[in-house]
Amino acid sequence: MNPSSNGSQGFDRRSFFGSLAAAGLTGSVLASGADALAQDGAKPAEKPAQPEKIAASFPLLQNVTETSASIAWSLNRPATGWVEWGTTPDLGKFARNSEFGLNPYEVDFLNARIEGLAPNTKYYYRTATCSFDYVNAYNKTVSAPEYSDVYSFETVGPAPEKVSFGVMNDTHNTVPTICKLIERFDELKPNFIVWNGDVCSDYMTSEVAKKSIANPNGKPYAAERPLVFAAGNHDRRGKWVRDLKKCFTTWKHDDPRFAELGCNYAFRQGPLAAVILDTGEDKPDWHPAWSSMANYEPYRELQAAWLESALSRPEIASAPFIVAFCHIPLYDANPKANPGNILDKWASYQWTCQKLWGPILHRHGVQLLVAAHQHRFSYAEPTAERGWAQIVGGGPELKGATCIHATVTKDELKLSAEMVADKKALGSWTFKPRKV
Ligand SMILES: [Fe+2]
Repeated sequence: MNPSSNGSQGFDRRSFFGSLAAAGLTGSVLASGADALAQDGAKPAEKPAQPEKIAASFPLLQNVTETSASIAWSLNRPATGWVEWGTTPDLGKFARNSEFGLNPYEVDFLNARIEGLAPNTKYYYRTATCSFDYVNAYNKTVSAPEYSDVYSFETVGPAPEKVSFGVMNDTHNTVPTICKLIERFDELKPNFIVWNGDVCSDYMTSEVAKKSIANPNGKPYAAERPLVFAAGNHDRRGKWVRDLKKCFTTWKHDDPRFAELGCNYAFRQGPLAAVILDTGEDKPDWHPAWSSMANYEPYRELQAAWLESALSRPEIASAPFIVAFCHIPLYDANPKANPGNILDKWASYQWTCQKLWGPILHRHGVQLLVAAHQHRFSYAEPTAERGWAQIVGGGPELKGATCIHATVTKDELKLSAEMVADKKALGSWTFKPRKV
């Protein structure tokens, strides 16, 4: 992304439409459904069908940092678009995902990153989507913008005295479970939701992401409460999966060493520091199932270097509570559990990541690791050698799905888990602040 073409600089709506006019495009603005019917003299005067919306989903707010946020939304047809934002509902600034001087043209998801924000500040935004298609290089059809409602969000930062988060995991594109979890989060009202991997089973096309992630319930469930994606092993499978970043937008790192770690981030929100890790696939890179397409070993090692650096940052190191999130557990109580580095079956826990990351988490006083993958709820108390507790969420079927929730103040972190189907409690735990 070219930063100079993103944010408030370099984009003016009048010049945008002016450039369309200069290119001779405004004459081919798509006719509305009503116009199309009016031109068809043979039709009786029936109420015209509502034209299909260009955007196929409400906005998905993500990657909220002290100074930036990303918004993605899915499409019913090829389109370009942008985000309008500001500190009041009047908006007034613009962000769009331009690259190499070109504005976006997408068939499945659009996204934009808003930059230049201030910590702990409320912002408003809406999406604008124009259907856009090429007849040939000079002949294109473009519609007037279709706007979403105006939504708001707050950037993260040290100010809040209380923060909460919810966790769902291993949903495997099971839409009824996803909807039930969202219903529960609407009641619990966490500040953000971590979707802790295996969101879908595979991604052969964009359709599964459009249905299960962008629009599972026909409501703006993540337009104001950000989603934090922690990638699971299944979230690396299928022909379309390299485009998943258009839907689950990535994090940006200032340090060029970590530029490729778009699924890793650490952010401070009030008394909590949250750390997102990516355990990768559930079998070794050399497993024949991957047909030489897996390269997770150097990726995990790079994340170890990043983790050491992230946990040393002053705003993270000074947090009363640090919670890490990753999909595959880093610990298994069963000494015979599959460590993920053998040819037989698949990982129960990630031995390599345990060796690379576990001591770093321990040394920096991380209190809790939230994991998933096993489709079976468990909780392991910390030990003298492993200073972090590990909680593992349940599976995709409604009868096995769990909701993990935590509320954090400077004095305590209260963690609870329940079955999603009937809210049956699985346990609750209280953590004391770190010694900083
Ligand atoms: Fe998994």
